Amino acid sequence: MKIGILGGSFNPIHEGHMNIARAARDLLGLDIIYLMPAGEPPHKDRDFTAVRFMRLDMVRLAVSDEQGIDAFDFEIFKDEKCYTYETLGELKKLWPNDEIFFLIGEDSLDYFDSWKNPKEICAAASIAVASRKDSSDKGTLDEKLKRYSAKYKSNFIRINCDDVPVSSTMIREKIAEGEESIVFLPRTVHRYIKEHHLYEKDLFFDIGDEEISEIKRKLKKKLKRSRYTHTLGVASTCEALAMRYGYPLRAAFTAGLLHDCAKGMTIDEQKRYCREHDIKISESEKKAPWLLHAKVGADLASFKYSIDNEEILHAIRYHTTGCPDMTLLDKIVFIADYIEPQRHKQVRLAEVRAAAYIDIDLALSMILSDTIRYLKNGGAPIDETTLKTCEFYKDIKGFNT
Ligand SMILES: [Fe+2]
Ligand SMILES: [Fe+2]
Repeated sequence: MKIGILGGSFNPIHEGHMNIARAARDLLGLDIIYLMPAGEPPHKDRDFTAVRFMRLDMVRLAVSDEQGIDAFDFEIFKDEKCYTYETLGELKKLWPNDEIFFLIGEDSLDYFDSWKNPKEICAAASIAVASRKDSSDKGTLDEKLKRYSAKYKSNFIRINCDDVPVSSTMIREKIAEGEESIVFLPRTVHRYIKEHHLYEKDLFFDIGDEEISEIKRKLKKKLKRSRYTHTLGVASTCEALAMRYGYPLRAAFTAGLLHDCAKGMTIDEQKRYCREHDIKISESEKKAPWLLHAKVGADLASFKYSIDNEEILHAIRYHTTGCPDMTLLDKIVFIADYIEPQRHKQVRLAEVRAAAYIDIDLALSMILSDTIRYLKNGGAPIDETTLKTCEFYKDIKGFNT
């Protein structure tokens, strides 16, 4: 087999990396090219970087629709610096009969002599040098490649790639400046970055301990004791899920805390609130008015509890019905509401609880399926948003009504 290796931080992976991988695959006729994210030293500041699991997640997302390109977690869980000669030596032992091509950028070639043990690198792999297609200086590069090939008795090959004027640093800086539309990112990676609020300066939703205590105090007064206990359970479960999936913890906790804030009102009070605040009551909410508390809750959270974070308000708004294309926080609140520690009546609760920490979409589709089945069996009306949510997620594994 012909195997390519492209290493890097991939913080985040972008179309420049993907272009090099595709060009190498096609021009060298590789059977597979592995994108291998580097490990990271301990205690690295998280503010402007993504933790290693997230860098790996993003690489996996970027390659998911690519033929012959895959993610490779060979280095990422190592804490110490991995020298290229060591990694390639280990890979050569792993794949003794395969031909390995190690990819580097044109700029790195100039420092190749100063890499640790370049001879050992060349003994394990051929070196494929990514060069810009429109570079006018191909002659000089070819000269260099010839020289290196002779010096190290190895194969230094040029691969021409389309130039993509982007770097991971540039992307991180743009996001930190609040730029919304980031180009040159695979679509799935862009979504992942947005969902997890990666590289944003204001990484942790800015609400202080005192404000949280104040919200708790108000809720304790408004809600029945059992509802308040449920609320605390949902908030802490939201926080735990946020830890698992890399979402700002304080935002998740706050959303959980406020998700049922309208439950302190009777149904009639909620209806009156809707009339007075121009909140439209849908046909299915007329038939199932207990659904109203989500809408009213989002409004109360904004105007009575001073929450101006749109993601939190959205998650409260859709915590009972779900909605098509839910955000990560929507899913967290929706699932936490179902699995929090006080719950005991839900079917296959233990299974959903376990699934929630393994695969969030699996847990979501299990809950949606069970809810639909429960409503159908009980002859209860099914809300139109719930139906749209099910339609959106029906192809996800675990969905079965
Ligand atoms: Fe609720
Ligand atoms: Fe709830």
